[in-house]
Amino acid sequence: MTHRVRGVIARSKGAPVETTTILVPDPGPGEALVQVKACGVCHTDLHYREGGINDEFPFLLGHEASGIVEAVGPDVTSVAPGDFVVLNWRAVCGNCRACKRGRPWYCFATHNATQAMTLEDGTRLSPALGIGAFAEKTLVAAGQCTKVDPAASPAAAGLLGCGVMAGLGAALNTGDVGRGDSVAVIGCGGVGNAAVAGARLAGAAKIIAVDVDDRKLGWAKGLGATHTVDARTEDVVKAIRSLTGGHGADVVIEAVGRPETYEQAFYARDLAGTVVLVGVPTPEMKLELPLLDVFGRGGALKSSWYGDCLPERDFPLLIDLYLQGRLDLDAFVSETIPLDGVEEAFARMERGEVLRSVVEF
Ligand SMILES: NC(=O)c1ccc[n+]([C@@H]2O[C@H](COP(=O)([O-])OP(=O)(O)OC[C@H]3O[C@@H](n4cnc5c(N)ncnc54)[C@H](O)[C@@H]3O)[C@@H](O)[C@H]2O)c1
Ligand SMILES: [Zn+2]
Ligand SMILES: [Zn+2]
Repeated sequence: MTHRVRGVIARSKGAPVETTTILVPDPGPGEALVQVKACGVCHTDLHYREGGINDEFPFLLGHEASGIVEAVGPDVTSVAPGDFVVLNWRAVCGNCRACKRGRPWYCFATHNATQAMTLEDGTRLSPALGIGAFAEKTLVAAGQCTKVDPAASPAAAGLLGCGVMAGLGAALNTGDVGRGDSVAVIGCGGVGNAAVAGARLAGAAKIIAVDVDDRKLGWAKGLGATHTVDARTEDVVKAIRSLTGGHGADVVIEAVGRPETYEQAFYARDLAGTVVLVGVPTPEMKLELPLLDVFGRGGALKSSWYGDCLPERDFPLLIDLYLQGRLDLDAFVSETIPLDGVEEAFARMERGEVLRSVVEF
C-alpha cells in the first residue's frame, strides 16, 4: 500500500519551500513507517533548500522529529506499531571500521530506508538527513527510531533528533565536561544553548555564554549560564579569561562555525583545555593560527558531529531527565507552527527570533 500524505519539499535551489502531496510506501525489510507528531525547523533544512548540502533536489525537508510507529517491515523487532519514538540520523551499522573499533558514534555506514518516497509523478525525493519529517508520515530505517517514554511532549522530544542533541553532546560527550569545570559557549542559538544546558547537567561550576544577541543571552541564563558576555561590546577572550581567574575556561564550545569565533575559543581556554567545534563552517573558510601556540597551549582541539551521540544510549536517558524536571527541553520550543509555516519559520530563524520553531501535526 502507498500512503498519500502532505509534506514540505524544496523543489529547486533557493526557491521557497512548498507543501505538496507525497507518496510513502509501506515499510519493507528493515524499515519503519512513522506517523510524525512534531518536527523542529533546523538551520540544516535551510542549507538544503539553498543547495548548500548537495544538488539532489527535490528534498523532503525536516529531520528533528518524534512520532508514533505505524507499521514495520517483516523482520523488524527493535520497534513495534504504537511505539513513541524520536527519529535519529545515526542508525549505526555495527560492521564498519569505526563500529568494530568500539567507537560507533563515528559509524561510516549508518542506515536509512531503502525504498524511496516520491512525488505523485514518481519523482524520487531526497529526505533531509535520511529522515524527511516535515510530512504526516515518513519512511525510515527501523534503527532510526529510538523508543522513548511517551509521557514526553512530542515537540520537545523531537528536538533531541538533531540540534539540541548536538549541543548537549558537545558538552557531555565530546567536551567531557566534568563537575567543577569552567565552560564557555560561543554562539547561543539552539545548539549553543543546549551546550549550556549540557554543561549544567554535567556539574560545571562556571558557565559563560557568549553571543551578539540579548535574547539569546537571556535564554542562556535560563538554561544555566552563570555569566554572559556580549560579543558586540566586549573582547571575548579577555572577558572569559577575567571570569576564570585570568586563565581561560577548561572547555570552550564554539557553536557559530566561523574562523573568528574559533580563534576566540582557541585563546579563551585554559592551558591544556579543550576546544569543541560544533558550529558548521562553509567550504571557503580558512583558519590561521601560530603553530607554536597550537603546540604550546596543549590540550585538545575536537570537532563534534551530532554531539558524538548514540541515540539508543542517549535519547531515553535525556528524556528521563527531562521528565524529572532536570533538563528543560521545553525551553527550546519557542513556538509551534502548522506544516505550511516552514518558510516563515526560516525567516524568523534568520532574524534570530527563535531557538526552535516546531511543526506540530
Ligand atoms: N555539529 C553538529 O552535529 C551540528 C548539528 C546541528 C547544527 N550544527 C551547527 O551549529 C551551529 C549553530 O546552530 P543553531 O541552530 O544554534 O544556529 P543559530 O543561528 O540559532 O545560532 C547561532 C548563534 O550564534 C550567534 N552568533 C553569530 N555570530 C556570533 C559571534 N561573532 N559571536 C558570538 N555569537 C555569534 C547568533 O546570534 C546565534 O545566536 C550552526 O553552524 C549549525 O549548522 C551543528
Ligand atoms: Zn558502523
Ligand atoms: Zn538539524
